[in-house]
Amino acid sequence: MKSSVLLLTLATLPLAVLAADVTGTWKSEFDSQIGHQKYTFTIKQDGAKLTGQANSEVGDRKREAELKQGKVDGDTISFVEMVTFQDNEIRISYTGKLSADSNEIKFTREVGDFAKTEIVARREQTGPAESPTAAKIIRIKAGKSEPVKDAEGNVWLADRGFEGGQTIERPDIQIANTRSPDLYRAERYSMESFSWPVPNGKYVVKLHFAETFEGITGPGQRVFSFNVQGREFKDFDVWVKAGGPLRAYIETVPVKVTDGKIKVTFTPNIENPQICAIEIVPQGGGETSTTTPATTSTSTTPPPATAPMTTTATVSTAPAATAVLHINAGKVVGKVSPMLYGLMTEEINFAYEGGLYGELIRNRSFKADAIVPPAIPETYVAGKYLPVTFRPDTTPKFWSVVGGASMVLDTSVPLNEFLNVSLKLDASSASAACPAGVVNEGFWGIPVRPSTTYRVSFFAKAANGFTGEVTVSLESRDGKSTFASAKISGLNAEWKKFEAKLKTKSLSPSKDNVFKLTTTAPGTLWLQNVSLFPPTYRNRQNGNRADLMELLAAMKPKFLRFPGGNYLEGNGFNQRFNWKETVGPVEQRPGHPSPWGYWSTDGFGLLEFAEWCEDLDMEPLLGVFAGYCLGRGGVLPAGPQLEPYVQEALEEIEYLIGDLSKTKWGAQRAKDGHPKPFKMQYVEVGNEDWFDRSGSYDGRFAQFYDAIKKKFPQLKVISSWGYEQPANGSVKNRTPDLVDEHFYRNMEEMMAQAFRYDSYGRTNGPNIFCGEWATRVGSPTPNISGALGDGAWMTCMERNSDIVLLSCYAPLLVNVSQLTGNGRSMQWSSDLIGYDALRCYGSPSYYAQKMFSTMHGNEILATDSQNIPTRGWERRGRSGAPASTQQIRQIFFDATRDGKSGIIYLKVVNTAGTAQRVSVEISGAKSISSRGEAVVLAANKLDDTNSITEPNKVVPQAEKVDGLSAHFTREFPPYSISVLKLKSK
Ligand code: AHR
Repeated sequence: MKSSVLLLTLATLPLAVLAADVTGTWKSEFDSQIGHQKYTFTIKQDGAKLTGQANSEVGDRKREAELKQGKVDGDTISFVEMVTFQDNEIRISYTGKLSADSNEIKFTREVGDFAKTEIVARREQTGPAESPTAAKIIRIKAGKSEPVKDAEGNVWLADRGFEGGQTIERPDIQIANTRSPDLYRAERYSMESFSWPVPNGKYVVKLHFAETFEGITGPGQRVFSFNVQGREFKDFDVWVKAGGPLRAYIETVPVKVTDGKIKVTFTPNIENPQICAIEIVPQGGGETSTTTPATTSTSTTPPPATAPMTTTATVSTAPAATAVLHINAGKVVGKVSPMLYGLMTEEINFAYEGGLYGELIRNRSFKADAIVPPAIPETYVAGKYLPVTFRPDTTPKFWSVVGGASMVLDTSVPLNEFLNVSLKLDASSASAACPAGVVNEGFWGIPVRPSTTYRVSFFAKAANGFTGEVTVSLESRDGKSTFASAKISGLNAEWKKFEAKLKTKSLSPSKDNVFKLTTTAPGTLWLQNVSLFPPTYRNRQNGNRADLMELLAAMKPKFLRFPGGNYLEGNGFNQRFNWKETVGPVEQRPGHPSPWGYWSTDGFGLLEFAEWCEDLDMEPLLGVFAGYCLGRGGVLPAGPQLEPYVQEALEEIEYLIGDLSKTKWGAQRAKDGHPKPFKMQYVEVGNEDWFDRSGSYDGRFAQFYDAIKKKFPQLKVISSWGYEQPANGSVKNRTPDLVDEHFYRNMEEMMAQAFRYDSYGRTNGPNIFCGEWATRVGSPTPNISGALGDGAWMTCMERNSDIVLLSCYAPLLVNVSQLTGNGRSMQWSSDLIGYDALRCYGSPSYYAQKMFSTMHGNEILATDSQNIPTRGWERRGRSGAPASTQQIRQIFFDATRDGKSGIIYLKVVNTAGTAQRVSVEISGAKSISSRGEAVVLAANKLDDTNSITEPNKVVPQAEKVDGLSAHFTREFPPYSISVLKLKSK
């Protein structure tokens, strides 16, 4: 009786008492907005209490923090890490579930309200697994995100256990030599390793292969080595082993495990390694395998007698032979997308305000202090304007007073319901000897140039009795020089708009200047929308900064992805890019807080984006808000609640491309000053919707897709969830025209993935839009190392631009005036173009991109190579897996040809620190002229870069080249990107 009570009590005890002990060391690695992070959690569990510490690294920054509020409740683990970041205390909370084998915790990691990520922490094994999983057959289907059943009904787990690589599904292919073709209709490729924890003992590991990539057309085109528990399989050629393409082949390897895991490593030789499935069958004691397809031929390769029993990384020695690049000018393998190179933009790093947008006054509408709590979607009414509030007695940011004046934000006499606040200036101290007024320092200064006319405008009213004048002027910050000034009269008790011109004379350009508005007559004034514009690009009224536009124009971009990025989504439904509030007269645009931490007046609104496109001959690529905001901003599932946002998107499209006489929003565009519809082909639904963990994107996308296709059948609709993201969230209900893939990587990661698209399917899948990518090396703007990574990546995109139709680097712009501290001008490092109030410059990555975008043909030529030198690279392990060494190529190239002129553009990226002698062999052309041209971007050191003070340190040089032919040799300088223009017939 007693013992059954005890058993019952035990059975009903809270799980916490029975949960596995999480005491130990746990490791996790993941990418975040501040870079790749490596964490070690040292955890101690005492009953339900958890204590310990987190040690983390991002680049060379290291941090240590005590774990607080640690709890274990059943298999749920939670704790908090407090960190100090740029003077702010940030709370990072972790809530996770322990895996069944107690070796893994899947955490949701929330950084304040700012970011929410799923990460995995893995237990550090100090020796053989302490509580290994029971010996049973493990079956893993590589390349599938869901389990698969074989012909015998065995379940194969979804893709897992791999380090590195990508996956691809080819659902429609026929596979011979197996009863379970589904095992071969998806694969993982270019992976470095696979590992799986097992109890020590004997096993048979079965590796399932099939050559299913249409890019491999014969033996010898994919050759790789792999190593199973120390048993080396060198120069393995699936084509040869299986007897041709689309045929299953199983390599069966008996192994002995002594360290608690089975490990398989892969080393590329020619093309990427690939694998379709892995089966681990315990020998003696485990279940008996019934999975081997009866009709599949298997071959057991006995280990060489001398096979090493430990895994070793292959270290390359410099190749003795000269690297050879072949170009087959007789074989066009695809068309270069005419839209391949575009721009991506959003309000980040003071890209528009304090950047491209010509406005020189900071906080012109005095709303930078507005209180805007994020609205939740359930109660927010789409399209209903929500006025913002202000704390009483606030002095407006970025304004100061002179001459004994005082100022305060006043909501009692608004200009209108949108600019529902004004600056109330008490100038009762004013006199002729001591003018009183307000001062604005612009965005880290106001640029003053010689012989230039600036346009001043503002709305003002005065308290009864004020009859004085107001003076507006441009002055040096120290007050010693006045460069231009103008007097304005006529202020009275009604709001009125005033305008003046400020003309400078001969002077040296400078930026340490201010804008002043003063009066010598005592009184009280109210001001709103105080604006100062320099001459703009093509003299647009509400236009853009000319020097930046010229840098952009030189890239000859074909499209502009806007308005974001995170800026499209915002931190709340009332903080998104709400397009209707960004059009019309600027003084009726309410503005909104940007997710990057500062106020946007929306002076740069939808029409300004489109006019920017028009000025640079680019097409708009419009991102429409798709019912999902960042972080806790919320999401609306597909259905009636989402419908208002679908309508909003349709109206937005109509505003851009609708006929002025036939459509409501086309007519509105004409009223706003642009009668002619813009040319637009592409619309993207949302931004990076893989951050939405609710699983709603598939449905939301379908709702937008159907509505857009119905009203605008000519438009191509892009999914914001690309193949680089987990397949389980990608769009399945509809086939997007393109999927948007984002890559922020370091140089070696870019080099390692520079063949990614070579193996993408060409037949069924949507095309690709690389809507954000950058080699993030160098701050504020990338250095040559960044440019080299970009160059390697661009050879990949260009070589595959039959399917990679569009690409754009991100972010585009950064104001470099204040890189750190509160209120800094940069929120994201490694941006293409840098500037301050007066000057601007292109980074080495800018020049690399300009070289690619302005020099290419329309035909992609077949290429091949030999003896490309490689180097070892310690690839950081993802998701807690250990780092591994892999070989990466050091030279990257692609060739395109202009079908009309016959010019072949050969791009060669030499990422090595030594010059590379390369033999170029061109077949299939009648003749190659001996004279050509080369444009070369090169540097001496990987961290060589351009900056605001040294803008031209790394810039391309053009040279004439002689001695060219169908077989020539050229030395490519260290750390260089070269474009060779070869005249062919
Ligand atoms: O380009 C910077 C940010 O990176 C974008 O806003 C966002 O889409 C991505 O996460």
